[in-house]
Amino acid sequence: MTNDTTTGLFISFEGIDGAGKSTHISALAEAFKAQGRAVTLTREPGGTALAEKLRTLILNDAMDALTEALLIFAARRDHLTTVIVPALARGDVVLCDRFTDATFAYQGGGRGFDLDVLSKLELWAQDVQGLGRDFVHELGRKGAAPAIVKPDLTIWFDLPPEEAAKRLAGARVPDKFEAQPVEFFRRVAQGYADRMAADPLRFARIDANRPREAVWTSVHGVFSGRGWLP
Ligand code: TYD
Repeated sequence: MTNDTTTGLFISFEGIDGAGKSTHISALAEAFKAQGRAVTLTREPGGTALAEKLRTLILNDAMDALTEALLIFAARRDHLTTVIVPALARGDVVLCDRFTDATFAYQGGGRGFDLDVLSKLELWAQDVQGLGRDFVHELGRKGAAPAIVKPDLTIWFDLPPEEAAKRLAGARVPDKFEAQPVEFFRRVAQGYADRMAADPLRFARIDANRPREAVWTSVHGVFSGRGWLP
């Protein structure tokens, strides 16, 4: 893909809690804006008024694993149809803090929930055929029908779970996921590794176990390497 401003770019950012995504996402937003690109900065679960309400439930309330997965995909569907797909159709750079890989890593890997069920929910929730807009054509470039929306690129901040636990300790009151033991995050990290192995061209793995400046150099290098940033 080129740096053509008529072409939307969908980038997601992943990693276990404490991996340090946030500052790099903000820095990328500034770098794209400096190039004159319109940027939609958003997150999951969340990114719309409805999905942010669901986020509060998902991150704080106890629920069974299927209920959790359904709420996450409900939030994602609302976010996709009302924010992400229209932004891509306008040609924006969409920077999304977590997307579907997080569901496979956290619900699938961490919780041990059935990956086939998650794949089915993904097909349903991320199918934008039938929205009846021109952008379905554009998004269809990524593959044959149904037009499942997936990121063009996923940056995976890979940090050993023990290191992430140290970084998170005492930082803030932990939510439902942050309060999980280190073994949970080992399974989440394995979940990300499995997702990357299944779709290696979509992923860029960043060694996040380094000083912030070194991590930024690597992150920036992924974008400049693709011709998306100078
Ligand atoms: P996070 O993105 O880390 O935001 P913050 O920096 O505000 O804590 O928090 C989102 C949490 O939700 C994180 O623990 C991972 C979890 N999550 C899932 O379990 N499944 C998902 O599909 C998504 C998107 C997030």
